[in-house]
Amino acid sequence: MILFRLSHGLVAALVLLTTGVAQGDDRRPPRSGLEFVAPGLRQLQEDEFANPGMLWVMRGNQLWREPAGAANKSCADCHGKEAPENAGAAAGYPRFDAARGRPVNLESRINLCRTEEMRAPPLAYESEPLLALTAYFRHAARSQSMVADDSGAMTAVVARGRQVFEQRRGAFDLACRHCHELNVGKSLREERISEGQSNGFPTYRVSWQTLVSLHRRFQACDTAVSAEPLALGHDDYVALEAYLARRGTGLAIETPAVRR
Ligand code: HEC
Ligand code: HEC
Repeated sequence: MILFRLSHGLVAALVLLTTGVAQGDDRRPPRSGLEFVAPGLRQLQEDEFANPGMLWVMRGNQLWREPAGAANKSCADCHGKEAPENAGAAAGYPRFDAARGRPVNLESRINLCRTEEMRAPPLAYESEPLLALTAYFRHAARSQSMVADDSGAMTAVVARGRQVFEQRRGAFDLACRHCHELNVGKSLREERISEGQSNGFPTYRVSWQTLVSLHRRFQACDTAVSAEPLALGHDDYVALEAYLARRGTGLAIETPAVRR
């Protein structure tokens, strides 16, 4: 019996059956979280006119064309007017940035363009404009397959991500894999546990009435097992993001997904 603490402080009892066969087989095709949501949420996600996450995508489209910073340039000036011409690249983040000697995710790549190409201040993680631009870019890559760079310097980053995924944490001593590999399909409160894939991020959460980044979701899962969440953009969250991209390779991008 494991106690699952909800973010608003309630404690609910949950029986996690850990006797099942491990589902962490890498050769199994990955399954999108969409397969695990209630039918109403699925409908909401699939209807572009009703999907609340589309508000951020539209805002991103606006921001894409607005000049900013001392260089007075817009993203569109360099990347093309319509849906970003290199949208496909969004499917392959995080990538290793050789010039800076570190992995960067889409959020930090956008901020590098802000600071270095536009001479504008970086956008705060989880701020409306950064969520909007990230969602706009990922939405433009919708239906393309997730790909993961796990060659060269990224090999170590992906390996670190896997370690983080398998590390027990928090008062309940649970690792990500205890839920997202060993208990996939089981019910936890009003949700069915999915594989914890990243193909729908940023994602609209109905219970929070906002779009959330992947790192914000990591924080929520860490908090749920009473572990101290890491800072948004933390190296270990970027590593986790790289591992999830590797694990979810082949899944279609579904941004913006809709979840509870
Ligand atoms: C002055 C030109 C310029 C502006 C303005 C600019 N970028 Fe870029 N952007 C670049 C260049 C050059 C690269 C490639 C850098 C590299 O590969 O190191 C790039 C790369 C990117 C990438 C990665 C693409 C890939 O193939 O991996 C993304 C995403 C991106 N920019 C988003 C944005 C967004 C969003 C904005 C507006 C907030 C923006 N950029 C504004 C020049 C610009
Ligand atoms: C106690 C069980 C539990 C643990 C441990 C846990 N999660 Fe979750 N996680 C959930 C539940 C429940 C959801 C919401 C339903 C779903 O999509 O699986 C969720 C959702 C997610 C999602 C969103 C999936 C989607 O399709 O929208 C991701 C990504 C995720 N978790 C990653 C992680 C990572 C990474 C860790 C470890 C840091 C972790 N989770 C630890 C229970 C857990």
